[in-house]
Amino acid sequence: MKEKILHLSLYLLVSIVIINSATAWGEEGQKASLGERFHAETSLTWSGALADLLRAKPKLPSLYKDYPGTKKISLPKPDYRGMVLEDVIKKRRSVREYSSRPLELYQVSQILFAAQGLTGSLHGRPVRAAPSAGALYPFEVYVIVNNVENLQKGIYHYSIINHALELIKPGDFRNDITSAGLKQEMLGDAGVTIVLTAIFDRTRHKYGERGIRYVYMESGHISQNIFLQAVSLGLGSVSVGAFLDKKINNLIGIDGQKEAAIYLHSVGRI
Ligand SMILES: Cc1cc2nc3c(=O)[nH]c(=O)nc-3n(C[C@H](O)[C@H](O)[C@H](O)COP(=O)(O)O)c2cc1C
Repeated sequence: MKEKILHLSLYLLVSIVIINSATAWGEEGQKASLGERFHAETSLTWSGALADLLRAKPKLPSLYKDYPGTKKISLPKPDYRGMVLEDVIKKRRSVREYSSRPLELYQVSQILFAAQGLTGSLHGRPVRAAPSAGALYPFEVYVIVNNVENLQKGIYHYSIINHALELIKPGDFRNDITSAGLKQEMLGDAGVTIVLTAIFDRTRHKYGERGIRYVYMESGHISQNIFLQAVSLGLGSVSVGAFLDKKINNLIGIDGQKEAAIYLHSVGRI
């Protein structure tokens, strides 16, 4: 009898483990994970696209954010001529250790221009250095200045239209950015850490929830432009996806919902 009870308990235990692992691996009929649902619910279908036409979309926010009343720093004209593209691609590596030599303003200027600078016009509207779904440009660019020659430490917003920096918070934020980046030291050691934020409604206005996917795709384009430009300037850089969202959003002063930090990028002297 005792043996039977032992066998039964063992059987129950093994069954529970099997059921739980099936749940974890998402067998047929199981509830999909958040990531799986996000992907499924933002997948394009003809019927979904038709239904989406009838769905109310958010109003289009301004494509340019500005900070009136802040100190403006004009950036040098971005006209640096660097390495051959093929050499830059071959040379690009993530660099996480920087020297204490400051960056120069022309380097910061060139990198910001590569990220989101205005490079021309299409149907009478300005277009930017990185491609964007529907030319709706959801991204804003902030710069945490740690070590740049003749530039006060602080948090700046990149004014795309004016190719200028707007000082939104003066101060030394090296510890804040490092702790918000899960203690990744390079964020505080770098000359600058660039924070790419997205205003989702710019893209949702046209593409609905599918637009959120486009936003994430676009961050890769911008980050790669920063990367390649940094290499061409002889600088080191790394893109950073691991950060505490709330801390970064609070640091920048954005709500994390309408506008949220998507990707970080450190750049410094090697
Ligand atoms: C989406 C994404 C997020 C990343 N996040 C981090 C990060 O948080 N910290 C870090 O040190 N590197 C990060 N990296 C850099 C990768 O570790 C690096 O690209 C990879 O090791 C390949 O090396 P390579 O860039 O030198 O080719 C990230 C890269 C990508 C594409």
